[in-house]
Amino acid sequence: MIVVRTWAVALTGLRGELIEVEADITQHRPDFRLIGMPDKALAEAVRRVTNASENSGLKLPDRRLTVNLLPASLPKQGSGFDLAVAMAALATDGRVDPESLARTVHIGELGLDGRIRAVPGVLPAVLAAVRAGRPRVVVPHENREEAELVPGAEIIAAENLAQVARLHGAELDDMVIEAPSPPIARAISEPRRDESLDLSDVVGQPQSVDALIVAAAGGHHVLMSGPPGAGKTMLARRMPGILPVLDDEAALEVASIRSLSGERVTGLTRTPPFEAPHHSATMVALVGGGSRKAAPGAIARASRGVLFLDEVAEAPRSVLDALRQPLEHGSISIHRSGFTASFPARFQLVLAMNPCPCGEFGVAGATCTCSPADVRRYAGKISGPLLDRVDIDLRLERVSRLGEEGGSTTSAQARETVVQARSRAAERLADTPWRTNAEVGGRWLREGPRALRGAARRTLDSALQRGLLTLRAYDRVTRVAWTIADIEGRGTPNAADVGRALFLKKGVAR
Ligand SMILES: Nc1ncnc2c1ncn2[C@@H]1O[C@H](COP(=O)(O)OP(=O)(O)O)[C@@H](O)[C@H]1O
Ligand SMILES: [Mg+2]
Ligand SMILES: [Zn+2]
Repeated sequence: MIVVRTWAVALTGLRGELIEVEADITQHRPDFRLIGMPDKALAEAVRRVTNASENSGLKLPDRRLTVNLLPASLPKQGSGFDLAVAMAALATDGRVDPESLARTVHIGELGLDGRIRAVPGVLPAVLAAVRAGRPRVVVPHENREEAELVPGAEIIAAENLAQVARLHGAELDDMVIEAPSPPIARAISEPRRDESLDLSDVVGQPQSVDALIVAAAGGHHVLMSGPPGAGKTMLARRMPGILPVLDDEAALEVASIRSLSGERVTGLTRTPPFEAPHHSATMVALVGGGSRKAAPGAIARASRGVLFLDEVAEAPRSVLDALRQPLEHGSISIHRSGFTASFPARFQLVLAMNPCPCGEFGVAGATCTCSPADVRRYAGKISGPLLDRVDIDLRLERVSRLGEEGGSTTSAQARETVVQARSRAAERLADTPWRTNAEVGGRWLREGPRALRGAARRTLDSALQRGLLTLRAYDRVTRVAWTIADIEGRGTPNAADVGRALFLKKGVAR
């Protein structure tokens, strides 16, 4: 009996776990059994591995072959296990070096002809392998660029099964086989920014631009309301450009989610992502999933960046409900039979809506054709748990004189302001579980060591007493006041900062 083993990676959401793939042959009737995988995937993998081996001049041994994927309890989706299964199977008759095999992780799907096909999620799989102390990874040639983004990985990119067999010492003299490509130097790309979307393109609207900077600085979710053409979409699209650039870890996480979506990843992007799913998007597009797999949706793809929901008052209840878990926990789970996949979903939410169905309610010189009941119903569409998370309500009006010069603040300047304000907040919050002002707990704000005092406190308390603020709104205004103070470089908010914060939530009554 010879037992050989190699490694593969199982991905559940973004989390990868090493899978031990062990193979054994016994003197029985020729047979090929694969165990430790979900039933549906078994038959297909056996067929691909058998044909791929044969068509690569590497017939499987004529005995009873058993390949086991351990631990059996871990969910294993997708076809990325083929290569590890094939190599373990081929090693049972001593044709390849078991020692070489045992220190290598294999990721890839096999075509019937022996070609190694690209699979989604190679980047997070390689990350998991490196973290588990197994940096030597064979990946499909098409996925080599993303695999090489992982620091410390020793990537071997292969085009076909025969190449991998030769890598592990198999002699295949009747075939001309190119050696697998050697690793190339890893190149983390320079900040890539979409320069076509600069904040200075925005004409007028100084208060809205300031509000956007405050939102970015404190990590505050924003609701923008205003008539069509007021520039809501224009402003939202400029949000990623004023957020701090992604650090290595965040950039790798964003690229990993792209990789799991099946996108071709060729480098790291430093600009935070921007996702703008339409309100009619399917739940799968929004939340993620698929018939058998658990691919990330727009909510996960927005993680570390901006999730923009335009025309949010038109969105069905289900869309708004889908935001609750990510807003509370910073992650989103997809439930499938037998497993739950979880993805990070820490985004800055930007909501936009018209003031009423026709869009003209409250617009000077325009006539709204909606009934008062329609207007109320529209504004009430997004209420409760969702609005509780939104610190800034911004009312926009159409700019009356276009053709003026652009605004004076560029995205680069705004980003600098944001970065400085964020570092002040992070310093102040160093001993707390929070990093940005938007995350800070209400009680700590009101009663903690940095609770507001003096005139700033009196301004807020009197708004509360006069019924202008609910307690929740009181906390939101306090958070925003802290962000304004951080932007101004003040150690603590003053009454004017509180006044500005009150102004920034004047929008929708709640
Ligand atoms: N303040 C502004 N400065 C420059 N262009 C603007 C401004 N507001 C609106 N626009 C232009 O008007 C058009 C409509 O703006 P948009 O952002 O789509 O409005 P909304 O999303 O509120 O309907 C865009 O093409 C945009 O270029
Ligand atoms: Mg718009
Ligand atoms: Zn109307």
